Order: sequence, then C-alpha cells, then structure tokens
Amino acid sequence: MPLDIVVGAQWGDEGKGRVIDLLSGRANIVARYSGGDNAGHTVTVGDRTFKLHLLPSGIVHPHTIGLLGNGMVINPATLLEEIKQVREAGIEINQDRIRISHAAHLITPGHLALDAAREEARGAGKIGTTRRGIGPAYTSKVNRSGLRMESILDPDLFLAALSAHIGDVNHQLEALYGAEPLKSEEIIAAYRVYGDQLRPYIGEIGALAAKALAAGEKILAEGAQGTLLDLDHGTYPYVTSSTPTAPGALVGLGLGVGSADQVIGVVKAFQTRVGEGPFPTELEGELAARLRGTGENEWDEFGTTTGRPRRVGWLDLILLRYAVRINGISELALTKLDILSGLRTIKLATTYRIGTEITETLPLGPADLAAVQAVYEEVEGWSEDLTGIRSWEGLPQAARDYVSTIEDRVGVPVKIISVGPERSQVIQR
Ligand code: IMP
Repeated sequence: MPLDIVVGAQWGDEGKGRVIDLLSGRANIVARYSGGDNAGHTVTVGDRTFKLHLLPSGIVHPHTIGLLGNGMVINPATLLEEIKQVREAGIEINQDRIRISHAAHLITPGHLALDAAREEARGAGKIGTTRRGIGPAYTSKVNRSGLRMESILDPDLFLAALSAHIGDVNHQLEALYGAEPLKSEEIIAAYRVYGDQLRPYIGEIGALAAKALAAGEKILAEGAQGTLLDLDHGTYPYVTSSTPTAPGALVGLGLGVGSADQVIGVVKAFQTRVGEGPFPTELEGELAARLRGTGENEWDEFGTTTGRPRRVGWLDLILLRYAVRINGISELALTKLDILSGLRTIKLATTYRIGTEITETLPLGPADLAAVQAVYEEVEGWSEDLTGIRSWEGLPQAARDYVSTIEDRVGVPVKIISVGPERSQVIQR
C-alpha cells in the first residue's frame, strides 16, 4: 500500500484534522513531515475534542503508529505536554507508537525569543507569526547551527551545544534587538529533563517508513499549514519557514519520489487566513462576521494555536488551481460546506483583474497578489441546513452545483465533503 499525502490547499486551517481523522482509520502509519507547533489540528471524537500541535492527528486511532519527520521543528515542552494530555484522554503513547526522526530540529526558548524580537523589529511590516519560534528554528537549521533530535542521545554534548546556542542567541538579542538575555542555567536544566524523556522515542524514521511501504502498509502523511504558506510557493514573505506542500512530505520523511500515490487537497468552502499578507477575496463587515462565527464553537474561525480571529473571504479558484498544480492534488476534500447555508448567493473568484488585464493564472505566483483584484462568478445559495445530510444525493441542488462548479473550474474531483465538526458529519463520494 502506498503513501497518501494530505495537504492544505489554502492558507492553513482548512480542516485537515477532520479529513486526516477520517483517512487515518485506513492507515497503518500517520506522519507529520513539516512545521511545528504553529499548527493546531482540532480533532473531535464523540464528546472529546483534541487539539494536537505536534503529534500526527491520526494517533487518536489506537492501531496507528505516529512519526514525527525530519522536516519538523519540535518544541520539546509542547510535545511532552501533548503526550501527557493524550495519555490522560486514555490514548496509549509509548516508544513503539511514536517515533521521532533523529534529524528533526529542536525549538528552544532562544528561538521563541528571536521570533518575538524579529516581529517587534519588523513593525508595520510584521509577518504575524504564531511566535512559536518556527522561523528562527529553521534559520538555525539552514545555518547549520541547529540542534537535532539525535544530539539528545549524548547528554553531555547536547547540553554543551544548547549552552553555546543560548550564548549565540543572547548575543543577537542584546546586540541586534536591545532585548533582555535569556537565563542559560534554567533552560539547560529544563532541556536536561526533556532530553531524558524524549530519548527513547528518537530513531531513523525514513527506514521504518520505507520498510512499512515495502510490506504493503499504508502511510498517511499529514500536512500542516497550507500551500499558500509554503516558503517557496506561498505568499512570500508572508509565509511559514517550511515546505507544507506535498513534495515536502518526501523530503520531510526521507522517502523516495516514487512513494506517493494520492495527494488529497483539503479546501474550505470559503477562504480564511491568519496573519498578515495579501488576500484578494477578503470580506469585511457583516458577511465576514457571519462566516467567521462568534468564537463560541470549536468550529468557528479563530486560530487553534493563537486564538486570533481569522480573516475570511470567498473561495478563490485561481489560487485553488495553483494549489492543485504545485502539489499534484489528485482529489479534493471540501470542508465546512454547511457554513454557507442561508446565503442567498455565493461568490467564487474565477479570474483576477490586473490593471486592464484579466488573467486566470498568477503572473509571478502568489507573492505578487497585492496588485490583483478578484473577479467573481455568482451562484445560487441554498437555505437548507446541511449538518444532518450524509449523501451526495441528499444535498440541495444548489449545494451540489456549488461543488460541481469547483470541480469544473479546477479539474479535480471533490471526493469528501464535510458538513459539521463531528466525525460522522461527512459525505464520501
Ligand atoms: P510562523 O509559521 O509562526 O512563522 O507564521 C508565519 C505565517 O504562517 C503567519 O501568517 C501565521 O499566521 C501562519 N501560520 C503558521 N502556521 C499556521 C497554521 O497552522 N494555520 C494557519 N496559519 C498558520
């Protein structure tokens, strides 16, 4: 059995956790391949809601093995707290169930402090990061001065490397940003304990994954963030510092190019974004508030990691076509279709106007979006509540037409439709 990759087709928060939860029921191995605890996947099982930031969401299925790939940056404090919470909810976590790549990088308080200091220094040009230290941790990696998980295996060398890293961070904090230095002894004491707790989980996950594939097992690679936050292919510089797109799954797990089978793109029935950066179909006012929700429900549009209200807008098919191309998406999972119930008409951006020109593609990719104006196609809305519907035929005609319009304009079938936050609130075609 092959590797299937689930990717966010927008700016993250597409509801990947829901789709992963559904698909991981059929997987032997579930794997995170990029990013860190900037991600937040809400998984609802019965009356229990889990917020997972680092563990693969599919770990809530007791038969799965969870991998944390070399493409990740891992805050050990967050991971250990998450393991504790998941255990308290009755889910078994041990070194046979969770394996962490020896080549994943550690996030330290130094990275958190640098993330905050750099955002402050950017002023009006800030990126709106989650302040989880993601950018600085990847900077350390690319700079070849990062702390890899494998360093934990030799406690003395690990703590010496950590001490040198904090010294370097303190130099930057003081010299570049006029910020307070960090207290090295406290960090070293905490990381000594984290190291002892994480050591049993560390290993070579690429070989394990390849062996599983050769034995006919199925791996589900769980994307975090989204295509438009990809460091290379997103709305640079308003992006994260990793490769959340599908090819990142191969690099971030150590698998060969031929391993991948399906790429499932998760797309919300409308568009949302947190943080700064261009958003051609963004809505304001009453309609935006209506799509965002009040924040009282888990499902409302407020960041899982930061609690920030998300910016909302109409679905952008130019960007969705781009996501299909960049990831090689073979099928789509459309989430939150139920939220559109009650709108008289619904708009879909199908082309952009740039000056006097109309275009269906992005001249220089999404980094260039600031100059575009969305041109919309307007379709009929529907008034029916969709949350109890479980079949394609059961959907109102206008809802089916909305889905068919998306399929038609992007050239990929919509195989999964979610109509509510519960595991069962899904239509599979
Ligand atoms: P960072 O990843 O914390 O550096 O943040 C960079 C940008 O990516 C910011 O706009 C964040 O809001 C956004 N971002 C990072 N992770 C997520 C996510 O999981 N969902 C949505 N946006 C995210």
